[in-house]
Amino acid sequence: MSMDASDPQPLPNSQPLLQASGLSKTFGIVEVLKDIDLSVRAGEVHAIIGENGAGKSTLMKILAGNHQPTRGEMMIDGQKVSFSGPVDAEHHGIVLVHQEILLAPDLTVAQNIFLGRELGRGLTMDDRAMREAAVKAVRDLGADLDPDTIVSRLSIAQRQLVQIARVLLVPHRIVIFDEPTASLTPHETDALIKVIRDIRARGVGVLYISHRLPEVKEIADRVTVLRDGRLVASQNASDLQPSDMARLMVGRDVAKLYPDRQSAEIRETVLEVEGLDVPGYAQGASFRLGKGEILGFAGLIGAGRTELMEGLVGLRPSRGAVRLNGQAVRFSDVHASLKAGVAYLSEDRKGKGLLLSKDLTVNLTLASLGKFVRGLQIDRKREREALDRAIQDFDIRTGTKEILAGQLSGGNQQKLLIAKMMLLDPQVVIIDEPTRGIDIGNKQQIYTFIARLAEEGRSIIVVSSEMPELIGICDRILVMRSGRIVGEVTGERMNENEIVGLATGISAGEAA
Ligand SMILES: Nc1ncnc2c1ncn2[C@@H]1O[C@H](COP(=O)(O)OP(=O)(O)OP(=O)(O)O)[C@@H](O)[C@H]1O
Ligand SMILES: [Mg+2]
Repeated sequence: MSMDASDPQPLPNSQPLLQASGLSKTFGIVEVLKDIDLSVRAGEVHAIIGENGAGKSTLMKILAGNHQPTRGEMMIDGQKVSFSGPVDAEHHGIVLVHQEILLAPDLTVAQNIFLGRELGRGLTMDDRAMREAAVKAVRDLGADLDPDTIVSRLSIAQRQLVQIARVLLVPHRIVIFDEPTASLTPHETDALIKVIRDIRARGVGVLYISHRLPEVKEIADRVTVLRDGRLVASQNASDLQPSDMARLMVGRDVAKLYPDRQSAEIRETVLEVEGLDVPGYAQGASFRLGKGEILGFAGLIGAGRTELMEGLVGLRPSRGAVRLNGQAVRFSDVHASLKAGVAYLSEDRKGKGLLLSKDLTVNLTLASLGKFVRGLQIDRKREREALDRAIQDFDIRTGTKEILAGQLSGGNQQKLLIAKMMLLDPQVVIIDEPTRGIDIGNKQQIYTFIARLAEEGRSIIVVSSEMPELIGICDRILVMRSGRIVGEVTGERMNENEIVGLATGISAGEAA
C-alpha cells in the first residue's frame, strides 16, 4: 500500500490498552455472554449499550476482575492477563464504578471514600487529611457534600457521586462507568461528562454504559452494542444517531416512545393532600389526584419530591391532611397505605424495594402473601403460576427462573418490582423514577403500562428527573423547589423551559 498523503494516519498510540477476545460467561446453564471481542484505547470513551439483561454489567465485571470468564482471554499492553479479583484488576489499572451503590450506609462520606485504604500518618489515621481529600474529590465532580454526613442520609444521586469519587481516587488507566448517570439530574450529568472528558484527555481509556442514548452520542468515541449476550455492532460514534443505536439494541425501530393518550377532562378526586409537611424535607404540600389521572412531580434532586411521597405513604413522619375517596386517612406505616390501596414504588430498588438475596417468587409475592395462603400453608403452585404470569406480563427477561432477585439485571429488577406492586391491585400508584436504568425498548413498555393503569381507572403519580418522560406521559405536572410545590404546568405550558424555570426559580425568559 502506498503512503499517499490522503491515507489516514495511524493513531500515534494505536495499540489498545486492553484487548479482550472471545470472552464468554456462563452462569449455571445459561450463557449470558457469547464470544465477545472488545478493545479499549488510551484516550477514548468507548460506550457499551444494550437492552436490560444484554450482558453489559457482566462483561464489565469480567474486565474488572469481579467475575472470571468461562472462556476467552484478556491482554493489557499486549500481555496476557487474568485477574484473581477486583484488587488484582486495580493493580493493572482497571477500576469499575458499579451500577449498584455499594457503600457502607452507616459510615460517613469521607469514611466511605477511603474505606479499606485509609490515609495513615504514622500509625494513626489522618482524619483531617481524609476529610479534606473527600471534600475535594466530591467537589471535582461538581457536588458539595459535608464529609461527615452519614451516607444513609444522602440521596441516591449523592451516593452515586460518592461512589464515583471513591473509585477515581484509585490510580487508574482504564475507568469503567456502569450507568453512572442513571440517578443524576441533567445538571449533575453535565458535570460528570466534563469530568469524563478530563479523564480522557489524560490518556485514560473509558468504558461507559448508559441507557441515555443522546448522552452516549455526546460523549462516546466508539459504541459497542450487545444484544442477548452477543456483540452485534461496534462503530465510531460519529456514524451513529441515537435512533440507530436504539434499533441496534432492540432489533426493531423504536420511533414512538410515549403512548397516545386522551386526557379526560373532569375527574372525580381520588386523593387529596392538604398542607402536608414532611419535617426537614417538604412544607405545605397541597394537591389533588383525579381518577385515571397521571400526575407528574418534577424538580431538582433534593427538592423533596421523594420525601414528600415517603411522608404521604407513611415511610416518614408527616403532618397535614390526606383524604382518600373523601375519607380522612393517616398512614402510620407503609403497610397501612398499601392496605388502603396506595402503592409506592421506591426509587431505591435495593434499599426499599427488593430482597436481593431472595428468589424471584419470594420477592413477587412478599407484599401480598395473603393471596397465596391456603389453610396454614403457602400455595407454592399458585406462587409459581403468579411468577410465570408476571414474567409474561412484564416481560421480565431471565435465562432461568431459579435465580435470586439480585442476579436479575437492573432493568429487570424494576419490572419485578412493578409486578410485585400490581399483585396488590392498588387504586393509587406512586412511582418514583419509573425508568431509571431502563433501556429504551423497556421504557416504551413501562410507559404503555402506566398509561394502561390510568385507563383502567387507577390514579398515578410519577416522580421523575427526566423531563421528557414526564412531559411524554403525564396529564399535569407539579414542580417542587426546596420542599415546596411552586407551580403546575399543563397543556401548552408543559415543556422543559417552563419546568426548569419553576424548578430553579429562574423564569424561562431569564434563563433564555
Ligand atoms: N450471578 C448471576 N447468576 C445468574 N445469572 C446472572 C448473574 N449475574 C447476571 N446474571 C444474568 O446475566 C444476564 C446479563 O445481566 P447483566 O446484569 O450483565 O445485564 P445488563 O446488560 O447489565 O442489564 P441492565 O441494563 O439491566 O443493567 C441477565 O440475564 C442476568 O439475569
Ligand atoms: Mg447492568
